[in-house]
Amino acid sequence: MNTTTKTFPLEPIEKASIDELRALQLGRLKATLAHAYAHSPVYKAKFDAAGVHPDDCQRLEDLARFPFTTKQDLRDHYPFGMFAVQRDQIVRIHASSGTTGKPTVVGYTRKDIDTWADVVARSLRAAGARPGDMLHQSYGYGLFTGGMGAHYGAERLGLTVVPFGGGQTEKQIQLILDFKPDLITVTPSYMLAICEQVEQMGLDPKALSLRVGIFGAEPWTNEMRQAIEKRMAIDAVDIYGLSEVMGPGVANECVETKDGPTIWEDHFYPEIIDPETGAVLPDGQEGELVFTSLTKEALPIIRYRTRDLTRLLPGTARTMRRMQKITGRTDDMMIIRGVNVFPTQIEELILKRPELSPNYQCVLTRDGPLDELKVQVEVAPGLDPQHIDARAAAKLLQHEIKIYVGSSVQIELKPEGGIERSVGKARRVVDLRPK
Ligand code: DLL
Repeated sequence: MNTTTKTFPLEPIEKASIDELRALQLGRLKATLAHAYAHSPVYKAKFDAAGVHPDDCQRLEDLARFPFTTKQDLRDHYPFGMFAVQRDQIVRIHASSGTTGKPTVVGYTRKDIDTWADVVARSLRAAGARPGDMLHQSYGYGLFTGGMGAHYGAERLGLTVVPFGGGQTEKQIQLILDFKPDLITVTPSYMLAICEQVEQMGLDPKALSLRVGIFGAEPWTNEMRQAIEKRMAIDAVDIYGLSEVMGPGVANECVETKDGPTIWEDHFYPEIIDPETGAVLPDGQEGELVFTSLTKEALPIIRYRTRDLTRLLPGTARTMRRMQKITGRTDDMMIIRGVNVFPTQIEELILKRPELSPNYQCVLTRDGPLDELKVQVEVAPGLDPQHIDARAAAKLLQHEIKIYVGSSVQIELKPEGGIERSVGKARRVVDLRPK
């Protein structure tokens, strides 16, 4: 652990009392609801249809009376229909591509960009970054929020930023070797691809200058954290966010505890709901994460359904609540013979087997009326998929999936390099079922 972590001063709100935090949230929530109602015709119509008015929010719990916002709302009002400021007040646009339909477009005022840089700077500091450190930034630039979001926050904290973006793995490695950065921001799956190439060059990832990796944009397990930390001799810290709410930096893990991302609750108010009924669940129960922005101007977002599944946990390193590492997205949930299965559950079990590598994909097919799941997984470097140890590992994996997840699956071993590598978010589920 980095020894400077404990002595670096926090922002007062990070250590405020819960009462102070809740009072700040309530004031900001009322202002956000009023702003959305007054300046976004879409929100006005939604609130009116639900029979609620911003004045109905007198306590934080009253938020539950307001309607949800979904990705479909943003699509229905593509591109700028949900903005609550004039177009000429927008200084930046981002969009998330999505696999189907129109992209969801988000906009930021100058103040929003400023707030975003502040929360990302706070995130990087929580991860152990310190002014003067050098950051190798490998989240993609462009419409994706990852690159520019991390970049501006890093500059705000006073880091030296190397704005690489995704791809050109060999060149990334060359610059990491030459510039000797302290930190890297990248998806965990692309980090693995970089590591692999470092090893193929005959180098040891542990010997790189990197001290901390700030990994997010896709689900990854604690087992994956341990595997990366061991392979690279770094601290691996989780950063969470989504474009509709802001981008990266909605929540970030504190390096001293590594116990799930702390939600920057002074800007983003979390709720957990039952994804079926929409009812708000108490802290500690698993459900769908819902966010309401508390300070955004251009695109105030009220009760946005993230489709991410997690639980809210009490604060540890900070006053603010944490979220448990994301189990998965409702979109990525596979139902195999009636059993819900997430790729992260499969990942946890794969990583227990040294004969297997963390490169895997879940392939869904349909055989008659039943869905079938095939887990394609690469063997560890240097091992032949036909080797008896590899085959024994596959059998054990199949057995453990049956026991712990409750589902019968097929395992297909692939040689090293047999699973596609991504330079951004990994595709863990390949759905080959007829539409
Ligand atoms: O992925 C923002 C981001 C960039 C976060 C860089 C962290 C680092 P979107 O493309 O809109 O935004 O995708 C958001 O990605 O709803 C989650 O399903 C998933 N996701 C993001 N961070 C994490 C994480 C960016 N740490 C969607 N763990 C979210 C698990 C994550 N899933």
